Amino acid sequence: MPERVHEITLTVNGTVRRAAVPGRRLLSDCLRHDLGLTGTHVGCEHGVCGCCTVLLDGEPVRSCLTFAVTVDGHEITTVEGLADGGRMSPVQRAFAECHGLQCGFCTPGFLCTVTALLRKNPAPAEEEVLEGISGNLCRCTGYQNIVRAVHRAAELTAEES
Ligand code: FES
Ligand code: FES
Repeated sequence: MPERVHEITLTVNGTVRRAAVPGRRLLSDCLRHDLGLTGTHVGCEHGVCGCCTVLLDGEPVRSCLTFAVTVDGHEITTVEGLADGGRMSPVQRAFAECHGLQCGFCTPGFLCTVTALLRKNPAPAEEEVLEGISGNLCRCTGYQNIVRAVHRAAELTAEES
């Protein structure tokens, strides 16, 4: 029997997008393959590495563990949606400035996680930064610059608000 296809509507990075997805279509695959947003990456594909993190109604989620059909009607922000027009967000600029972005696999997840972290806690202490990014793995273990970037992003956000 052919698999049933569901019509879903998502607001992705502020734009209403529609897709027809089987029930088991992962949000990561929907974003990348159905909607062409290849900024979101997949690493482990089972919820461990955090590469695939996107924001669901502002909260970080593992898109590789989320069925697209379950987020019908919701708002998704991917790494492509973090910039404000042509201007990178404070988090993106801080990662660039502090060399916190090393590869394209982990970085989109870090950027989304840190964006949500700083919205909740605009001036995190060192321990809170470490805790906040503990669900995102960098396989090259280059965390020092990432941690510096989070603090710098907090500074930039405060300066600009
Ligand atoms: S690809 Fe989703 S957590 Fe690793
Ligand atoms: S910089 Fe991406 S996994 Fe280390």
